[in-house]
Formats: sequence, structure tokens, C-alpha cells
Amino acid sequence: VFSDKQNKKMDTMAEWSLDDQSRAINLSKFIHEDNFQQEELGQDISNDASLISFPIFVKDRSSAQRKLLGTFCASRDAKRNRPFTQVDLDLLHNLTSQVSIAIENAELYAKIIAANEQLKEAIRLKDELVSMVAHDFRSPLTSIQAFSELLQDRVADEGIKKYLAIINRQSKHLASLAADTLTMSRLESGNFPLDFKIFRMNELVVSLMEARSTDTNIDLKFEIPEEDIEISGDSRRVYEVIDNLVGNAIKYSPDGAFIRVNINKINDGVQVSIADKGMGIASSDLPRLFQKFSRLDSARQRQIAGTGLGLYICRAFIEAHGGRIWVESDVGKGSTFHFILPVQKKLSNEKKH
Ligand SMILES: Nc1ncnc2c1ncn2[C@@H]1O[C@H](COP(=O)(O)OP(=O)(O)O)[C@@H](O)[C@H]1O
Ligand SMILES: [Mg+2]
Repeated sequence: VFSDKQNKKMDTMAEWSLDDQSRAINLSKFIHEDNFQQEELGQDISNDASLISFPIFVKDRSSAQRKLLGTFCASRDAKRNRPFTQVDLDLLHNLTSQVSIAIENAELYAKIIAANEQLKEAIRLKDELVSMVAHDFRSPLTSIQAFSELLQDRVADEGIKKYLAIINRQSKHLASLAADTLTMSRLESGNFPLDFKIFRMNELVVSLMEARSTDTNIDLKFEIPEEDIEISGDSRRVYEVIDNLVGNAIKYSPDGAFIRVNINKINDGVQVSIADKGMGIASSDLPRLFQKFSRLDSARQRQIAGTGLGLYICRAFIEAHGGRIWVESDVGKGSTFHFILPVQKKLSNEKKH
């Protein structure tokens, strides 16, 4: 229980110095009114026969030292028939330490809340910046890509053709980095609505097969069941996932190596498997494979270009569909990536396309 008057008195009596931050705290807020006699405390101390005062120290976070926050005083006026006893002292002493712990915790809590708010704001600004930059990268890169392609057909000089091919390849890499970064940033800010519709898995895989058919240096085989498999999901995202996994299979296998894509109807969904006979993945690397920016040494050492975002995005898309994705692999023998998408009940407001 504090009053400025008491604080000042204690100050002179005990030679404690109260810094600028010391303040009076009225414990009547915390103690039930039946146990608290406001009029006896902290008012006039001229009648006090005994007065005890405990310093309240709290840890100062910046200096790591304990600073005196104030005093905890109890007075007993002359009308009372006994002075303070050891029991009173012990009680007050315990109370004082509880009060300092409570004040320390409350201060700490307020700091954590404030820091958390600052962090949230920083993350929001970062997301905004990342999506702005990634978005603004796209149109200039599209021009670079298109014109370098166009020029390759128009020039006769083989040397220049080679440079143009490098420009084209590098700008494609930059464009995919920008696209992946934009997707990641949107996924993380929760700003990635999926467009759920019913689509036929078989048709989706056939269109992917056609798009990949121009790749001449791969031996890509698709195994699709006769029976139609209908899925409720965002077909563009599912396409992206399969294309990404096929892209990896090609990237991490020697030229012309065999790659197989299997589509199987299973009990309550569809399972897609992409198998390659490439470099494989060590079992110790498997846990971090689907984390963002995770690129394995095997890929780095061979200087294979990549962002380490592909599998992270694949997993986010598959999980957003209520599915799961995993991999089986043997170093040097190859890898098989699998994912399962659940077949969902047809909703009346979903239309086929
Ligand atoms: N089919 C695969 N065979 C061997 N390693 C793979 C395969 N797919 C992915 N990886 C490893 O996982 C890492 C992460 O893949 P991904 O997220 O697609 O990133 P990126 O392909 O851009 O490097 C790759 O860098 C590579 O080390
Ligand atoms: Mg990849």
C-alpha cells in the first residue's frame, strides 16, 4: 500500500531513492474490500505508532539490474494494542515478493504483446513488398523471354544464337522464381483462394501429357486408367503440382532417363505417382524436403538451377485439398513422389467444366 507521503517518509527513513518512475499503487484494487481498510492506510501517518516498509524491486530489462519501483508500506496506529509481530513481517515480506513478481510478469507480458504486434506489422510489410516485387518482375521478364526467342529464329550467327538461348533460359528461371515467390507469399498471408470445381483427372493428365510432348530429351510415360476419375478441387493447382513433380523428375535425372506418371483410383480418392530413375534422395534429407527454400546438396553440387520452393508449394496445394504428399527414394536409384487427393462428395452448386 503506497502513498506519496509514505513513500517520501520511507525514502528519508531508509535512504532508498525512488527514481522518476516510482509511482503510488493502490492495492485496494486487488484486495477484497472486506480485508482492506482504506481510511487507515495511506492517509495521514501522523498517528502511526509503527510503520514498516518493504522495498519492491523489479528487474530492469535494459540494465538487467533490479530497480526500486516503490515501497510496500503498512502502518499501525497508536490505537492498536500491539506492534507488528514476526508473523506480520513474514506475511508482508511474502506479499512484497509476490507483488514484484506480478509486476515483473505484467510488464513482460505487455512488452511481449507490443513486440508481437510489431512483428505482425513487419511480416505484413514484407509480404506486401515481396508480392509487389514478384508481380512487377513478371511483365519485363515476359518481354525478355519472348524477344530472345524471336531473335533466335532471326539471327544466323551460331554464337549469337547461343547467347540468346542463355538469355531465354535465365529469364525463364527468373520468371519461375518470381512466380514461386509470389505464390509462397500469398500462401503465407492466407490470400490464396482455391477455385473448387469438379474436374476429370484423366483429362487434366492428358493435357499435361500433350504440353510435355514437345520435350524431346525425356522418356515420359503416363499410365491413366480407362475409368473417369472425378475430383472436386482447383484443377489449375493440381495441374501445377503434377507439372512441378514431373519437372523435378526431369531435372534430377540424367537426360533421356525414364519417367513414369501413374494415376490410380483408390478407395476414397485418387493417387498420383511420379517415378524417376534419377539421383534419388538420402533418407536423412527426406524430412526437410517439403520445407520452403530447401535444396539438397546433391542438387547444389550439380549446379542444377532451382528455388527450393516447388515442393513446399506442392504440399501447400495438396493439403489445401485435404490430401497428402510424400516420397519414397533410394540414393542413386531414383525417387517416386506420390500424392493422394480425396474424392469429395459432389456439391449441388459445383458445376462441371
Ligand atoms: N525427383 C527428385 N530427385 C531427386 N531430388 C529431388 C527430386 N525432387 C526434388 N528433389 C530435391 O528436393 C529439393 C527441393 O525441390 P523443389 O522444392 O522442387 O525445389 P527446386 O527444384 O527448385 O530446387 C531439390 O532442390 C532437390 O534437391
Ligand atoms: Mg522443383
